[in-house]
Amino acid sequence: MSTTPGRKQIHLAAHFPGVNSTTVWADPRSGSQIDFSSFEHLARTAERGLFDFFFLAEGLRLREHNGRIHDLDVVGRPESITVLNALAAVTDRLGLAGTVNATFNEPYELARRLASLDHLSAGRAAWNVVTSSDAFTGENFRRGGFLDRADRYARAAEFLATARELWDSWTPEGRQRPFVHSGPQFGIEGEFTVPRSPQGHPVVIQAGDSAEGREFAASAADVVFTRHSTLEAGREFYADVKGRLARYGREPGDLKIMPGVTYVLGDTDGEAQERAGEIRRQQVSPQNAILALEQIWGRDLSGYDPDGPLPDIDPDPDSTLVQGRVRVADPVGVARRWRALSEAKGLSIRQTVVESTSRQSFVGSPGTVAAALEEFVATDAADGFILVPHLTPGGLDDFVDRVVPLLQERGVFRTEYSGTTLRSHLGLPEPVWKG
Ligand SMILES: Cc1cc2nc3c(=O)[nH]c(=O)nc-3n(C[C@H](O)[C@H](O)[C@H](O)COP(=O)(O)O)c2cc1C
Repeated sequence: MSTTPGRKQIHLAAHFPGVNSTTVWADPRSGSQIDFSSFEHLARTAERGLFDFFFLAEGLRLREHNGRIHDLDVVGRPESITVLNALAAVTDRLGLAGTVNATFNEPYELARRLASLDHLSAGRAAWNVVTSSDAFTGENFRRGGFLDRADRYARAAEFLATARELWDSWTPEGRQRPFVHSGPQFGIEGEFTVPRSPQGHPVVIQAGDSAEGREFAASAADVVFTRHSTLEAGREFYADVKGRLARYGREPGDLKIMPGVTYVLGDTDGEAQERAGEIRRQQVSPQNAILALEQIWGRDLSGYDPDGPLPDIDPDPDSTLVQGRVRVADPVGVARRWRALSEAKGLSIRQTVVESTSRQSFVGSPGTVAAALEEFVATDAADGFILVPHLTPGGLDDFVDRVVPLLQERGVFRTEYSGTTLRSHLGLPEPVWKG
């Protein structure tokens, strides 16, 4: 790998868009979120840019809003590991990461699918372990809310430990041995059908933000996908999570921290700012503005004018208007802040939502963006980034064409893949075989 010695290297991943309000569906260049050609385009672009991995989120139930499917967001997407297996055939080095829930799956079945992906891709599989346990999602599995929210990480930790026992039930030399697992969550025994895979264990990503989630990441994950994407919040999160590693006998480099970030490029910083404003207005259409407001208020606000003032009624704290999305912790406080902002600046509902909801993380010329990314990593606000383009499938093209070469010139990003497995791209140690 031709890099500059001593400079902390940046890791990059590509998030397939389409699962949140970041995606701009109204743009004429916006393509399908289910055609294989879309997945293929983004994955090939990420591999052309020498990215560490391609990333798929997961939603196990379509979101609902006021009793109807929330169809301004993505509606329908294929199962992650199936898509990744297909991508393994059209890529060569790129890591392939899928989000799969530890609450509604079983260790034997999932360990088998992940080990199979690791074989088919010659060592490029990763699993993002998520823990949603809400009854709304659980109804799709006929179990409703069978797991208390408080137990979600107990199950996830035992799930992952069990999967690792299964992966270790084959020796590195290819001998199979029976497994027995007996614990509060799972009691299983037998023989695992898939030989030890090229990475030994697929790479494990964690994406929960509670104290238990952070502890789980520190004890067992290889990568954290986080929302802390500003310099200050990033540094705080980074220090917190890395500070938990020593308790588990782990080194700071054993766990990579990668915030999800968005970006807007322009020929100049001014042009990029202008484009960023246009994109924000596309993301927050008049209809989306009312929906965003309803998500906070928990009330039907369809009678309000998006170009008019905010409602003067308070949010309903116990509302179930929105299903399948975690509600903000303090809706009354948020509503108060939004109202204060709108009154201070004379903003309409839509303008307030544009100002208040998540905005683009990196905006500027390619040079400005490359310098900012380097600063984040050099000052320990991150080890790299999961880039979330706002367009499917071409949203990563300009980043790969214009920013990656500048990161390479700065000596902070690889100019070729030095290894073949995702573990080697991430500089992660090989898992020790525990027979
Ligand atoms: C950055 C980020 C991305 C996430 N992506 C997904 C996802 O794709 N699918 C999913 O079911 N949950 C996702 N989650 C939810 C978490 O895995 C977890 O279930 C939730 O945050 C509750 O755990 P916590 O209380 O530790 O935050 C994500 C969470 C974060 C912070």
